Amino acid sequence: MMRVRTAILLLLLHLAVLCLLESTSSMPDGQQAAAARHRRRQVLLREKATLLALKRALTLPPAALLDWNESNGHVCGFTGVTCHWRREHVVGLALPNNMRISGAIPPVVGELSRLRSLDLSNNSISGAIPSALGNLSRLRNLNLSVNSISGAIPPSITNLTRLQNLIVYKNVLSGDIPPSIGNLTRLYELDMWSNNLTGRIPAELSNLRGLGVLQLDNNQLGGAIPPSLAMLAGMFYLSLKHNDLSGPIPAAIFVNCTVLGVIDLGNNNLSGEIPSAASGTLAYSFAVLNLYFNRLTGKLPRWLANCTDLMVLDVENNRLDDELPTSIISGKKYLMYLHLSNNNFWSHDNNSNLEPFFAAMFNCSWLQEVEAGAVGMGGQLPGRLGSMLPRNMWHLNLELNAIRGPIPASIGDIINMTVINLSSNQLNGTILF
Ligand SMILES: *[C@@H]1O[C@H](CO)[C@@H](O)[C@H](O)[C@H]1NC(C)=O
Ligand SMILES: *[C@@H]1O[C@H](CO)[C@@H](O)[C@H](O)[C@H]1NC(C)=O
Ligand SMILES: *[C@@H]1O[C@H](CO)[C@@H](O)[C@H](O)[C@H]1NC(C)=O
Ligand SMILES: *[C@@H]1O[C@H](CO)[C@@H](O)[C@H](O)[C@H]1NC(C)=O
Ligand SMILES: *[C@@H]1O[C@H](CO)[C@@H](O)[C@H](O)[C@H]1NC(C)=O
Ligand SMILES: *[C@@H]1O[C@H](CO)[C@@H](O)[C@H](O)[C@H]1NC(C)=O
Ligand SMILES: *[C@@H]1O[C@H](CO)[C@@H](O)[C@H](O)[C@H]1NC(C)=O
Ligand SMILES: *[C@@H]1O[C@H](CO)[C@@H](O)[C@H](O)[C@H]1NC(C)=O
Ligand SMILES: *[C@@H]1O[C@H](CO)[C@@H](O)[C@H](O)[C@H]1NC(C)=O
Ligand SMILES: *[C@@H]1O[C@H](CO)[C@@H](O)[C@H](O)[C@H]1NC(C)=O
Ligand SMILES: *[C@@H]1O[C@H](CO)[C@@H](O)[C@H](O)[C@H]1NC(C)=O
Ligand SMILES: *[C@@H]1O[C@H](CO)[C@@H](O)[C@H](O)[C@H]1NC(C)=O
Repeated sequence: MMRVRTAILLLLLHLAVLCLLESTSSMPDGQQAAAARHRRRQVLLREKATLLALKRALTLPPAALLDWNESNGHVCGFTGVTCHWRREHVVGLALPNNMRISGAIPPVVGELSRLRSLDLSNNSISGAIPSALGNLSRLRNLNLSVNSISGAIPPSITNLTRLQNLIVYKNVLSGDIPPSIGNLTRLYELDMWSNNLTGRIPAELSNLRGLGVLQLDNNQLGGAIPPSLAMLAGMFYLSLKHNDLSGPIPAAIFVNCTVLGVIDLGNNNLSGEIPSAASGTLAYSFAVLNLYFNRLTGKLPRWLANCTDLMVLDVENNRLDDELPTSIISGKKYLMYLHLSNNNFWSHDNNSNLEPFFAAMFNCSWLQEVEAGAVGMGGQLPGRLGSMLPRNMWHLNLELNAIRGPIPASIGDIINMTVINLSSNQLNGTILF
């Protein structure tokens, strides 16, 4: 026991001597700290010079960023600037909203090589994204949305391998989406909607295994939706609407992307059938299914009946051919918008019985809008229509169908109904409200 203790004491003594030797062999502590402070000051001075160069290159309103000046020694206190907690580097630059910054982003921004976040969103910035941005290899968040930035997405963006959010929506970017974006494997949100992008959606996006949000809508993207997007198991928001996409909707997306809650593929040129299979978990999570203005054929898939959280179902202007949906809408408490117009949807019993369709809406307590014009439905409006429709409904469009007979007086019971369009049918009798 005694011997052990002695051994430990000797060991501690030995270590202490070693430490002493170590510190005397280099600088004293105080000097070392001073050197580090000096180094940090040099770095911050360099970064300050970069920020001032950035300010000079941009066009700002007269009273903007006054504290970005030579005599202000407090770089980390510059408006919009964030430093690392030990004040070693500028790591964040955020000048969004109403800074009214215009002009182009100058290449000098590439010298802020420690930046983790760059937010210049919602200004009036024009010009191209400088290639030098590819120097910001530590960047996690890039938000250039809501500006007038033009030109192509620079290939150097593939250098930003730590990027989690790439947000450039509402600009006028043109050219292709570089396939090398598939190298940014930490991306969570890829947001490029409302630009002027052309070409195809790169199949390489399937490498972005952590992607949650993919928004490429309102561009001029063509070709097919890559089936490989089905590899994005964590994707919950997919919007590709308002493009020139053609070909079928890849069925695998509905089976594999099990947390998909919103899918918006409207206003494209998609053909084929709506995939008829979906995973059970997917059916559970769907809230929005927008497929309007395409050339889709076939029936509404029956798995929709399992989407208990469904809020929006919009399949207007396709070539669907099915019985008016009942099991799909029945009991959908959260269903707000049901848009079926300009397809072929017949009523029950050989297009003669409208009762099951309206009866199915009874428990859809959030239902506000039903558009079912020009679908070819026949039969008479049920006499108790007014008590079948949910109380919140304010918009019912059944124009251009083959509905016969009288307009039920009970329709006056739907207190919030403000738009009801029954024109171009074969109705008769008196209007009682
Ligand atoms: C520089 O910034 C400091 C700190 O905000 C401010 O007090 C000073 O007036 C500014 N100088 C000029 C010339 O704007
Ligand atoms: C942009 O900034 C303006 C002015 O601050 C603000 O009113 C607007 O909501 C912002 N727009 C977005 C999309 O954030
Ligand atoms: C890239 O960053 C390094 C520092 O990491 C810097 O020396 C260099 O000037 C930067 N290049 C550009 C083009 O900004
Ligand atoms: C990007 O900028 C827009 C506009 O300022 C803002 O609304 C949005 O929250 C930002 N997104 C991220 C992820 O920073
Ligand atoms: C991107 O990275 C490559 C290789 O790391 C480098 O040679 C190139 O200069 C970087 N591009 C920019 C714009 O910094
Ligand atoms: C990026 O991905 C492409 C394939 O899309 C690959 O050929 C290339 O080597 C990758 N580039 C980098 C810098 O990792
Ligand atoms: C978008 O691209 C088209 C051609 O591809 C061009 O005619 C149009 O002017 C562009 N729009 C903008 C805002 O750049
Ligand atoms: C669906 O997911 C499985 C497992 O993640 C994967 O092996 C398969 O390739 C995916 N299917 C498609 C079409 O991407
Ligand atoms: C839609 O695709 C078909 C071929 O599948 C093509 O003939 C047609 O021109 C396309 N329509 C539009 C508006 O792009
Ligand atoms: C709906 O869900 C039930 C129970 O989870 C399941 O048995 C059935 O196969 C599902 N129907 C469709 C069409 O997916
Ligand atoms: C009807 O509309 C009013 C006012 O817009 C709203 O407060 C109410 O919640 C709606 N629903 C019912 C059932 O009255
Ligand atoms: C309305 O039309 C039906 C046939 O569709 C007919 O039986 C009925 O008598 C008509 N009613 C009136 C009031 O014209």
